[in-house]
Amino acid sequence: MPNELNKLKEKILKKGNLPGHIAIIMDGNGRWARRRGLPRTAGHKAGVTAVKRIVRAAGDMGISVLTLFTFSQENWKRPKNEVSAIMKLLYETTKREINELDRNNVKLMTTGRTEELSPRRRQILQEAIERTKNNTGLILNLALNYGGRTEILDAVKKIAGDVKRGKLDPAQLTEESFSDYLYTNTLPDPDLLIRTSGEMRISNFLLWQTSYTELYVTDVLWPNFSVRDFYRAIQDYQSRERRFGRL
Ligand code: FPP
Repeated sequence: MPNELNKLKEKILKKGNLPGHIAIIMDGNGRWARRRGLPRTAGHKAGVTAVKRIVRAAGDMGISVLTLFTFSQENWKRPKNEVSAIMKLLYETTKREINELDRNNVKLMTTGRTEELSPRRRQILQEAIERTKNNTGLILNLALNYGGRTEILDAVKKIAGDVKRGKLDPAQLTEESFSDYLYTNTLPDPDLLIRTSGEMRISNFLLWQTSYTELYVTDVLWPNFSVRDFYRAIQDYQSRERRFGRL
């Protein structure tokens, strides 16, 4: 790692108050490719390279959870060949990187309706999750076939079921116990949400969980997002004053 980057990292660590959970909307793969006259799928491939460097940087810095918006429910509406290219990249990368992830004490998990993914391929993810389940380092959470509203609806359906079975008294429901019904029930809410590629939208990502999350939007396209860009986002977060509605 270049010396200057190392110094920046030390500065961040010295300051303390790191974001425990960072979520990222990795946008701009298509634009990156178009600017180079390449097919969109080449952009996603370059996106995987960025994923690898940011996962490494997050683990290295001692971040607890990194959630990546990998595939949204809405992404199914893209052309079939693009959907299958993203899926192929995901499974191939998981297979290829699982040894390194495991060696680095990364725990893999997914968030979303993964039961709707192809069973043969889901198996690959399941094996990786199983293999890393006792790891104690970075939690790498891939949001897959994820939609924020659907997640809330799924929670409401489970709650209704528990009420019907007499397991839950609706009057006792709190924000905290509601969170237990979300896909992310084992995770803290994100402290920082990074969106690349400039758009000022949440795009149906972690709607419930981001109520008090600090937002950071950069114009950098995801395939170009560097460790330095990642550090900048964290530094920006460190300079914020989080009040959670208080004075
Ligand atoms: C957004 O760019 C990106 C996606 C919808 C896919 C992200 C997926 C990956 C980077 C591969 C996943 C792999 C792993 C290992 C997590 P866009 O296509 O919306 O870009 P655009 O807005 O410029 O068109």
